[in-house]
Amino acid sequence: MPSVNSNYQIVAFCCQYCAYAAADLAGGLRLQYPPQVKIIQIPCTGKMDILYALQCFEKGVDAVIVAGCMPGDCHFLEGNYNAIRRVERVKDLLRTIGLEPERIKMYHISSSMASQFVSAIEEMLTMVEKLGPNPLRSIDKAKQKEAISKGAG
Ligand code: FES
Repeated sequence: MPSVNSNYQIVAFCCQYCAYAAADLAGGLRLQYPPQVKIIQIPCTGKMDILYALQCFEKGVDAVIVAGCMPGDCHFLEGNYNAIRRVERVKDLLRTIGLEPERIKMYHISSSMASQFVSAIEEMLTMVEKLGPNPLRSIDKAKQKEAISKGAG
């Protein structure tokens, strides 16, 4: 069971038709889930751009969840299959920059799967507690800018 008091940060991109509704249902059922997750509603996981995930990691987020409709149930037909491919691409990019690819994961959660939504959040939080914080969070932004401006000059 992950710690509810850790200051890890997780961003969950949730399709409005399924995972977001499951999160809503979890709230309605008063299921407890770790408060470290920030839920972002999107119209379909097919809308989840690779850059959104990379920007999360750049800003120090420890893990990213992409949660969409069950395979074959996407309201935009192929959106969740495109999301699977994008998540794999982000994993490759994370490997390239030395971050663990496990920091991003795709889930398929229908609107009635409130407890599975909670389990997904707990699973990711447990995983980041094992990996430790995103190392990009501790990089001094001023030094980062200085290095970039020297490189540009
Ligand atoms: Fe839910 Fe596409 S509409 S993943």
